[in-house]
Amino acid sequence: MAVPARRGGMSRCLICDGALERILSFGRMPIANGFLGTEEFAREYFFELGVGFCERCAMPQLVDRVPREKMFHAHYPFFTSSSARMAAHFEDFAKGVMQNHLGERDPFVVEIGSNDGTLLRHFAVASVRHLGVEPSANVAAAAEEIGHVHDLHSLAKGVGHLLKPRGVLIFEDPYLGDILAKTAYDQIYDEHAYYFCVTGVSRWLAPHGLEIVDVEPHDVHGGSMRYTAARRGAWPVRPAVPEQLQMERQAGLHRRETYDGFRGRVEKSREDLIELLQRLRGEGKRVAGYAATSKSTTVLNYCGIGPDLVEFISDTTPVKQGKFSPGVHIPVRSHAQFRSHHPDFALLFAWNHAAEILEKEREFARGGGNWISYVPRVEILDPLRGRETRESA
Ligand code: TMP
Ligand code: ZN
Repeated sequence: MAVPARRGGMSRCLICDGALERILSFGRMPIANGFLGTEEFAREYFFELGVGFCERCAMPQLVDRVPREKMFHAHYPFFTSSSARMAAHFEDFAKGVMQNHLGERDPFVVEIGSNDGTLLRHFAVASVRHLGVEPSANVAAAAEEIGHVHDLHSLAKGVGHLLKPRGVLIFEDPYLGDILAKTAYDQIYDEHAYYFCVTGVSRWLAPHGLEIVDVEPHDVHGGSMRYTAARRGAWPVRPAVPEQLQMERQAGLHRRETYDGFRGRVEKSREDLIELLQRLRGEGKRVAGYAATSKSTTVLNYCGIGPDLVEFISDTTPVKQGKFSPGVHIPVRSHAQFRSHHPDFALLFAWNHAAEILEKEREFARGGGNWISYVPRVEILDPLRGRETRESA
């Protein structure tokens, strides 16, 4: 069973225990990374994917939580290093930390949620003391209780104990401002329990004596923010912090009404995508999905898109190949089959890697293949220039 953040019929904010207002409902949803075989269809796990908003905390969050053991199991198929661009991103991240934050003698780096060590290996090479904590048994042998953190207050408290007086907490997450601006509702799935912005993170950390001292937008995961926090007063606050807070006020990230507009755009995106795929099917076109991402699970299930509209999804991760996508059960095939099957259209589920993918798949476009993206809007991309030629709807 999913763990509802409810008491007495009312959904409660997991940060402040205040009332949580439901802003989005995606309906019955499987685990985003729950790729499965036919023999597992009958006992597939589903929960209600919905987002609530607490005006006091400015922190959108899932209304029903999925127990950790359902998400991070022995076959958890996500490995950070599977994307070249992400590997390069983490190398830069590690170098930045070493340059800017490791001035003390005998520095010690702890990574919470370390996946396969993509980030930490750079500290190892530089002989910096380091420790990784990771909850998926197959991704790291040592599973620990903290890792993918539902209880943000206990995390902040733990970090408060762990940090040296001038130590810093650095983390990076898909940015709420980008999710809203790009209608990237597919960032919403079981593994993302909270949707962060500078306003929300400041309010969460403040009671623990921590403050944000720097923020830096990054163009990974479809738009991320890197937050650097420290004990209050330990470091000067960079101007980027109040600047970003001001931008968030202007965008209304702290106001409930902002999310009504977002919901309208999400519904429109669903209508447009279904309409486009149905039209292509009517024209006898073959559509394949490109990259069996966690994000695709939200889109496919929310839009009710199954194998009748998307024939298969190609993916480079061996443990996903030969399996079926969660909920709607579209077959996942190897990348070689994408090349040999010549679909007319490829639905780009890894839209955050669009530039990298369109570049390496130039042959697909040259052979007459077309790319469909649904972020920031449903559109058919110009394969050679990587932007839209015509609207779908
Ligand atoms: P994620 O968005 O949940 O991290 O999953 C990314 C998936 O996309 C992963 O299974 C690998 C796949 N992928 C491809 O198949 N081809 C690609 O070119 C890229 C960038 C990712
Ligand atoms: Zn709250």
